[in-house]
Amino acid sequence: MEPDISTLFQQTSISSLPLANRLAVAPMTRVTATSNGVPTEKMARYYSRFARGGFGLVITEGSFIDDAWSQTYAYQPGLANSGQAEGWQQVVAAVHSAGTKVIAQIQHAGALSQGNAYRNGTIAPSAVRPKGEQMKFYRGEGQYPVPREMSDEEIADVIESFGSAALRAVNNAGFDGVEIHGANGYLLDQFITDYTNLRTDRWGGDIAARMGVVVEVTKRVRATLGDGVPVGVRISQGKVNDFFHKWPEREQAAEVIFGSLVDAGMSYIHVTEYEAWKPAFGGAGMSLAALARRLAPGVSVIANGSLHDAARAVDLASTDADVIALGRGALSNPDWPQKLRGNHAMEPFAPEMLTPLADLKQYEFVA
Ligand SMILES: Cc1cc2nc3c(=O)[nH]c(=O)nc-3n(C[C@H](O)[C@H](O)[C@H](O)COP(=O)(O)O)c2cc1C
Repeated sequence: MEPDISTLFQQTSISSLPLANRLAVAPMTRVTATSNGVPTEKMARYYSRFARGGFGLVITEGSFIDDAWSQTYAYQPGLANSGQAEGWQQVVAAVHSAGTKVIAQIQHAGALSQGNAYRNGTIAPSAVRPKGEQMKFYRGEGQYPVPREMSDEEIADVIESFGSAALRAVNNAGFDGVEIHGANGYLLDQFITDYTNLRTDRWGGDIAARMGVVVEVTKRVRATLGDGVPVGVRISQGKVNDFFHKWPEREQAAEVIFGSLVDAGMSYIHVTEYEAWKPAFGGAGMSLAALARRLAPGVSVIANGSLHDAARAVDLASTDADVIALGRGALSNPDWPQKLRGNHAMEPFAPEMLTPLADLKQYEFVA
């Protein structure tokens, strides 16, 4: 039976932000800002293709939040100062002009920084060398360095900086909302993860304590932006440097993570897994999206992970997700929604797009 794709084209909303449909572009770092972290015209043209291609929402690539240790990659865009925020205006305008909404993802690298113009070295919850190797397509080489353990004051600064970056995103750049990057192995996920957070102060210990910084960041961003603006949090089990990680506390972790973020005032939860529909902890259990739906009542759920197969997307959108976010599917088909509607063939994802570097290729920004 053909999937009923009309489900994906229903109007929806996140808080009071109306979306023309339920299809979003997932955040994807493409290292095409200036060396000072200012978004470029190329980026505006690249992002506008998704809007013209029919996506109801674009979540932009992770922007770093301060001029200390948050920058993750060279040529990554930032929201650490007003010049960077003003550079985002052209991106926001280009996406809005096609009737699409746009949310800024804000990110701190923690131990996974491999290109920071501001500081040498890395900081993290604990001095634990990250697993895996730096990413070559973001100009990295070899092992990650051992980070320095953050002081209490540095943790307070980071919480503050997430708030200021969120304010710049909305007030200076014109974004419709903000997504806090709590996933994929970066700083906030390092706090959540048992083996990267060995702290014995109030920021370490059981899963509730390890969520403390993410909860404080969410509260700060919510308090800074007020109630009307969508504030999302992205959560994953896997990491860029540890694909198959699972929360050792399993469902109990999901309960604490999603529950505490609802209490902190988030508007949506963005869950990402390699295959979004699979049971989160194996066996015949629920997917992470299904757990989010049940454990975070009253907030929208965005699901991501290999959902470029329309039947899978429709399935999840009919059950546990309000919005379906596409990463690779959108890269190879910036007009994925229009193609789906017109019953046109989709281009398969071509990993060459991201080699030798993950920067934007000419065909992605030439109209
Ligand atoms: C080139 C590239 C860059 C990415 N950068 C980010 C990022 O900045 N922030 C983030 O949360 N996820 C990032 N991701 C992960 C994607 O948002 C998404 O979770 C992943 O591609 C899986 O979704 P898919 O199966 O639809 O591709 C990136 C993925 C790719 C391929």
